[in-house]
Amino acid sequence: MYRDLKNKNIVLTGGSGFLGQQIVEAFKFTSSNIIILDIKKPNNNNAKFYKCDITKENEVKKVSHKIIKNHKKIDVLINNAASDYVPGKNKNDLSLENFKLNIWKKDLNVGLDGAFICTKIFGSIMASRKQGVILNISSDLSIIAPSQDLYKSLNFIKPVTYSVVKQGINGLTKYTAAYWANKNVRCNAIAPGGIFNNQDKKFLKKIKKAIPLKRLAKKNEYNDLILFLCSKSSSYMTGSIVIADGGRTII
Ligand SMILES: NC(=O)c1ccc[n+]([C@@H]2O[C@H](COP(=O)([O-])OP(=O)(O)OC[C@H]3O[C@@H](n4cnc5c(N)ncnc54)[C@H](O)[C@@H]3O)[C@@H](O)[C@H]2O)c1
Repeated sequence: MYRDLKNKNIVLTGGSGFLGQQIVEAFKFTSSNIIILDIKKPNNNNAKFYKCDITKENEVKKVSHKIIKNHKKIDVLINNAASDYVPGKNKNDLSLENFKLNIWKKDLNVGLDGAFICTKIFGSIMASRKQGVILNISSDLSIIAPSQDLYKSLNFIKPVTYSVVKQGINGLTKYTAAYWANKNVRCNAIAPGGIFNNQDKKFLKKIKKAIPLKRLAKKNEYNDLILFLCSKSSSYMTGSIVIADGGRTII
């Protein structure tokens, strides 16, 4: 399966994070080269790593030159990096009433400006070769609004920027897909549901009720979907937002 991914160079933003590391695992069996762009070093050494802040256009441009020099070509871009909040770890007031403009700007800067900059720079390189794939990591919360009730036991509020960034990612996906269709660059997104990561028991009990499959995703359950959308197996798909959420958005 996915034999066409052999020797492909895959640029993965935010590859040092939780899902990013799982994406590296998913590609392990394809003999492709994963090239991580992140502000922090990955724990996993299976991938090449370039320290890069994707919100800085000059930095991304410089890294793109290095990648072409060292690896010759770029075949796939996965826009995965985001500035997301974990309950208990942030001290900002995330209520809509008190949401600070500087936090709004920072979240949109990573989630949207960063994805735009990488799409512009790496997408242009792929478009000039008339070959390439872009996969954007969206969320089930690009389809539905978060229910704040779910997070009450965690004393957490899912920030407004999450919805805005993920809806923006869906727009970027469709725009890019239409724009570069004639350059043979396909662009799709996945809208995954939450992944189990030892969350608080009360939260898990509540969220299970909102999901027809009655559980969060296991961290490897998006592997095949991601490989499929990056490979030529999905050659007739572009501009799709593929929902994989245990049915959460259908009820
Ligand atoms: N974890 C989930 O349950 C879940 C569910 C749905 C969607 N998602 C989406 O999946 C993606 C990855 O999520 P995650 O849970 O792995 O988050 P994470 O916070 O673990 O990883 C995000 C990574 O992005 C990097 N990053 C942040 N700012 C950056 C910048 N300016 N330049 C380069 N890298 C930067 C971080 O260093 C980190 O390694 C996100 O887009 C997230 O919204 C996650």
